[in-house]
Amino acid sequence: MIAGTPRERSDARAKVTGEARYSADVPVIEPLHAVLVVSTIARGRISAFDARETEATPGFVALLTYRNAPRLDGRVTGRPGVDKRLLLLESDRVECDRQPIAVVVGATFEAARDAAARLRVTYEAEPPIPTLADPRARAFPPDRTPHGEPADIARGDAAAARAEAPIVHDATYTTPTEHHNPMEPHASIAAWDGDRLTIWDATQGIFEERRKLASVFGLPESHVRVVSHYVGGGFGAKGSVWYHQALAAAAARHVGRPVKLVLARDHMFGATGHRPETVQRLVLGAGRDGILRSLEHEVWAHTSMVDAWMEASGEVSTMLYACENVTVRHRLARINVQTPTFMRAPGECTGTFALECAMDELAYAVGIDPLELRLRNYAERDGHRDVPFSSKKLRECYALGAERFGWERRDPRPRATRDGRELVGLGVATAVYPANQSNASATVVLRRDGTALVRSGTQEIGNGTYTVMAQLAAEELGLPLERVRFELGDTLFPYAPNCGGSWTVATVGTAVAQACRAVRAQLRALAGGDVAPADAALVLAAADREELSADSDARPAEERARFSCYSFGAQFAEVAVDPELGTVRVRRMLGVFDVGRVLNPRLVHSQLVGGMTMGIGAALLEQGRVDPRTARIVNASLGEYLVPVCADVVGLDALVVEGYDEHANPIGTKAVGELGICGAVAAIANAVYHATGRRVRDLPIGPHRLVA
Ligand code: MOS
Repeated sequence: MIAGTPRERSDARAKVTGEARYSADVPVIEPLHAVLVVSTIARGRISAFDARETEATPGFVALLTYRNAPRLDGRVTGRPGVDKRLLLLESDRVECDRQPIAVVVGATFEAARDAAARLRVTYEAEPPIPTLADPRARAFPPDRTPHGEPADIARGDAAAARAEAPIVHDATYTTPTEHHNPMEPHASIAAWDGDRLTIWDATQGIFEERRKLASVFGLPESHVRVVSHYVGGGFGAKGSVWYHQALAAAAARHVGRPVKLVLARDHMFGATGHRPETVQRLVLGAGRDGILRSLEHEVWAHTSMVDAWMEASGEVSTMLYACENVTVRHRLARINVQTPTFMRAPGECTGTFALECAMDELAYAVGIDPLELRLRNYAERDGHRDVPFSSKKLRECYALGAERFGWERRDPRPRATRDGRELVGLGVATAVYPANQSNASATVVLRRDGTALVRSGTQEIGNGTYTVMAQLAAEELGLPLERVRFELGDTLFPYAPNCGGSWTVATVGTAVAQACRAVRAQLRALAGGDVAPADAALVLAAADREELSADSDARPAEERARFSCYSFGAQFAEVAVDPELGTVRVRRMLGVFDVGRVLNPRLVHSQLVGGMTMGIGAALLEQGRVDPRTARIVNASLGEYLVPVCADVVGLDALVVEGYDEHANPIGTKAVGELGICGAVAAIANAVYHATGRRVRDLPIGPHRLVA
């Protein structure tokens, strides 16, 4: 057995030896180097550029501003709800801090950086709207959420049911702006050959990038090639085309040479998206038995002046618990900020924070154990779509997690458990993330020497695509793993979608499996009966053939529409709080997850624990801060934007309940990558309440919230 075993990453050695080439490492011959100049105001217009010192810098090659840049079409089209407009040096308008306003090209990176630093920009600044809390930030409904749902969703009559409910919990939860901060900075190398563009890019989606860059430059898609062999993390930030790819390509065309553009860490806090701040009001109506009678979830999130990207935090409330009367409402407000984007579990992460804290509060209000409250409200089917779940083993997750975590030993009273001077608390929350699947293609070549080459234009963003797809192909072909090679990351390969939405295994895996099954069918036909692929040599020699090949074009099966497909999990956290200093430490966390079939337990564990780690960051540390007077980001560095480091991440473990989802897709898998962050934040917040008796509804939870 190959699929289902904890194989090492096939690219592990290449990565640790430096042999793996990330986009900025690709040895394109003699590229020039580009550096972005970004705005230092958040709203207004550029009144003048003084480029004398820039142009006098040794090694200076070119400067592009709105005054001389080619007219580019920044309306990069996407799916409904996630369309985006880039202000690609089109005018003197500035609508956010760190908006790219110029590109400087130099002979070396240092020359470009020096020349960029010497560009003098004069602005006419206007008063910006800095945050969602600003009264000038007016709410409006988005056309659609990124999942294609309407802004308002309702069933039953929540207001009427709440009016008659004996218990009502009504509270507002807030989450701050968060930045993705992948280890690898965004990096692009653009090279033109006539009117054909090749770009090596750190991206989560080569085909989407091809489509969007073709649209920006008015080219047929066939004239754009995107290559991406390794990506050092993305978390959603690399799931869209931003300014730097388009401007690197524009600069390369302008100077007639390949151009490399690597974003500075500081610039990654600007024009590469972020998770927007949210304000979420939860109103739960329940009986004295804790059973929900109404659930109302109102969400406000910020967006930019030019786009309507929605953090759809309320969607989880439509289906996570059994409730007949549900109202979900999403609203946006424009502020002077760069356009937000997907960040690991966009909507689900922030939404499960608010909903799962509210459920915890309801449990205390009715005097029921928080885990028991969730079981009483367990959803046997998706109440929003009114269909059964494709598979759901959440009860098993709760039970196994409670047993392994020692939930029964928890003293239910808040502020009752001490360890020395520290207050200790245990919290629980539910994790949920959709088990998505999209369209993908793959090609498989089985050679006479008994090796196979499998290709699909997907990405390796640290998720283990190289490894898992090779495992799956080896399993399907009946070949040893070392005889299978999987290649990805080139738009010359068959189509695959973005690595996002935790759908890569379900989507690309289905395409790979189908192509492998087609090759085996050919082999059977050739041999006139069953034959092991290891014996392909004999069969192919007898037929005088060098190889067999098959392509697949895999789409979600119609059967999927009859089910609601989700991954689930139960998150448990133990925190220790210093009552005088207000410091919070996570002492241990356990997540137990229902993810369908597991193709590689080692990689699944790594993804789940990685998500939980980001949950610690969201709960306790992460916060993009802006100066309320200027709307400028004030902590745009890894020194001041805090993320969990090794010392913060102790005692984490993730388990899975065995499963195979026969309805979600033909290979039985569900979503993994984004699941681990969901519920993790609320589990920690709930543990802080249990430890201290203080309910913190505003993230991040730190000394400033606990000592006052
Ligand atoms: Mo993920 S936020 O769907 O890249």
